Amino acid sequence: MVRFTIPQAVTALLAAVQTVSSTPFTVGRLDQRSASPPHSSVWPSALNGQVYGESWPEFANKTKRWSSYRAPTFDEVFLPENENDLSLGLEYMSSKNMSFLARSGGHGYSPTLQSIQDAVLINLENFNYVNVQDKGTVVVGTGAYFGDLIDTVGGAGRELTVGSCPCVGATGAMLGGGLGRLQGLYGLTSDALRSVRLALWNGTIIEASATQHPDLFWGIRGSGQNYGIVFESTYETWPATHGGIHYSADMTFAKSEIKQVTEIINSLTTPALEDKLALLVFLSLNATTNDLNMVVNIVYPGPEEEARKYTKLFSPYSQSLQEHMLKWQQLPEKSVLGLIPLSCASGPRYDLYALNAKTLDPATWVEFGNEFESFMQKYPATNGSSVMIETFPVQGMQALGNDYSAFPHRDYFENVIEMIGVYEDDSVGQEVDDFFRAWRDRFANTSGYDKLHVYQNYAHDDEPLSALYGYQDWRHERLTKLKNAYDPHGFFDGYHAVPFDISKWT
Ligand SMILES: Cc1cc2nc3c(=O)[nH]c(=O)nc-3n(C[C@H](O)[C@H](O)[C@H](O)COP(=O)(O)OP(=O)(O)OC[C@H]3O[C@@H](n4cnc5c(N)ncnc54)[C@H](O)[C@@H]3O)c2cc1C
Ligand SMILES: *[C@@H]1O[C@H](CO)[C@@H](O)[C@H](O)[C@H]1NC(C)=O
Ligand SMILES: *[C@@H]1O[C@H](CO)[C@@H](O)[C@H](O)[C@H]1NC(C)=O
Ligand SMILES: *[C@@H]1O[C@H](CO)[C@@H](O)[C@H](O)[C@H]1NC(C)=O
Ligand SMILES: *[C@@H]1O[C@H](CO)[C@@H](O)[C@H](O)[C@H]1NC(C)=O
Ligand SMILES: *[C@@H]1O[C@H](CO)[C@@H](O)[C@H](O)[C@H]1NC(C)=O
Ligand SMILES: *[C@@H]1O[C@H](CO)[C@@H](O)[C@H](O)[C@H]1NC(C)=O
Repeated sequence: MVRFTIPQAVTALLAAVQTVSSTPFTVGRLDQRSASPPHSSVWPSALNGQVYGESWPEFANKTKRWSSYRAPTFDEVFLPENENDLSLGLEYMSSKNMSFLARSGGHGYSPTLQSIQDAVLINLENFNYVNVQDKGTVVVGTGAYFGDLIDTVGGAGRELTVGSCPCVGATGAMLGGGLGRLQGLYGLTSDALRSVRLALWNGTIIEASATQHPDLFWGIRGSGQNYGIVFESTYETWPATHGGIHYSADMTFAKSEIKQVTEIINSLTTPALEDKLALLVFLSLNATTNDLNMVVNIVYPGPEEEARKYTKLFSPYSQSLQEHMLKWQQLPEKSVLGLIPLSCASGPRYDLYALNAKTLDPATWVEFGNEFESFMQKYPATNGSSVMIETFPVQGMQALGNDYSAFPHRDYFENVIEMIGVYEDDSVGQEVDDFFRAWRDRFANTSGYDKLHVYQNYAHDDEPLSALYGYQDWRHERLTKLKNAYDPHGFFDGYHAVPFDISKWT
């Protein structure tokens, strides 16, 4: 096959031609990782038609991300069609010491991703498949979103723990653990994982499971962005609870009821939330009244009468109540007053701080409610910000034991608090960051745990690494060993990188 190397300056002129013809042009890029002067790279001819530069009309679409806050930047996009292409591309890029980043759903928002600049985005959209097998396992390509997984698995009358948002990458979320409403029954999304196939930095393809590379399989479930690109995952699924029909109630509350609501939640999580019950609290500014509003959503896969005993605890204080019986597949669109798909909007700055809490300290939450409302009123450019509390059951994850995977929060996951600062006008960026960081610290003081615990996928970049990966020395040793074995040159360091050196743990 003929290969052309085109200087960057003329790629713009040729881009249109490239998209409509099958002529095998390749596009040069600057080698950012290398300390040597910039030079053009010539991709292997077998990957012609899969690599494009910034002048490609589809470039913005194919590299788009949910958050533009401290985001990675790209000057090329690689769209492998299958695992052989992925392998070849990785072998090539690592041989040239080029920096790259895998994209499954594009919803990763960690500010650590800012370390990836002028890189190649490996867009995995061609790996979008979900196949339920006869034995009830499901094989998921890494291009599949939670929405795809839910539709196919639910359509087969089965279920597993999934995230609440349809637009998030199913594999991307699983790599950090994967939290969701069905945790009480099945544990995390990653707890249902039975095997993965992945491509390492040098293009080598391996399988990891309880019997093959079990050490790596352990690490993938909680720190899985660190070792290679998982392109296919196989999960166990279970027959749908209550025929796949879930009770869902949405109640709205005025800010003045924050104390009541947090006290009721604490009463439900002490000693433990019922294993089928999931609560989600959403605080945001009401566009009509310009006051802070609170929505409490209750989801329960079981009969209405059984579920209502929980709703009745809250409803005397609520302004409105809506109840529905929904199919599992409808929850992403219909639960929480239909607000969830709105959070899929791509493009703004999303500056998030999060932490886990054993209980919700009512006095701290009352004060937060007042200050959060005043903050958004004072800086209207931040008025799309919100706070979410995911109070999901923990029995399924606790049943597996603390060392089951690299996910370290099995005993520290009663409530997961996420503060979502949103803005487009950068003049308020510093205020947003200061406000939510300070509140993360205050909530940490009343979390009911003696240390900070943060779900890795929700983390910022200022926490001690142990808050994300666990405080125990044995975890640090195990993770650092894996990092050295599987990613010796740090090609997968963009997302809460596991340190190479044991002394670098914080
Ligand atoms: C609106 C919203 C809702 C969310 N809801 C939930 C939820 O309910 N439950 C939950 O657990 N989390 C949730 N999250 C957090 C989510 O788990 C993380 O944002 C996760 O990183 C998203 O994965 P992705 O594939 O969409 O993102 P991406 O940006 O594509 O990937 C995130 C990181 O993982 C790496 N990566 C992606 N794919 C692979 C792969 N196949 N192999 C190796 N590395 C890879 C990327 O390089 C990047 O560093 C939510 C996030 C958002 C924005
Ligand atoms: C590869 O890139 C990294 C990151 O930029 C750099 O630290 C390293 O020195 C480079 N290695 C070589 C061999 O050029
Ligand atoms: C890219 O374009 C397609 C087709 O127009 C559209 O469906 C998709 O949502 C776009 N993707 C992004 C990330 O904007
Ligand atoms: C916002 O306020 C209006 C007017 O009081 C009310 O009808 C609506 O339910 C509120 N929205 C939410 C999400 O609470
Ligand atoms: C936020 O402010 C904008 C502009 O002032 C306004 O249009 C919008 O309705 C406000 N949104 C909320 C939730 O208050
Ligand atoms: C947290 O508590 C410690 C010890 O009581 C105190 O020194 C610190 O100021 C508190 N931090 C915040 C943000 O409230
Ligand atoms: C590829 O990388 C892995 C992980 O670093 C290593 O174990 C393996 O030996 C490498 N394969 C080749 C062919 O070099």
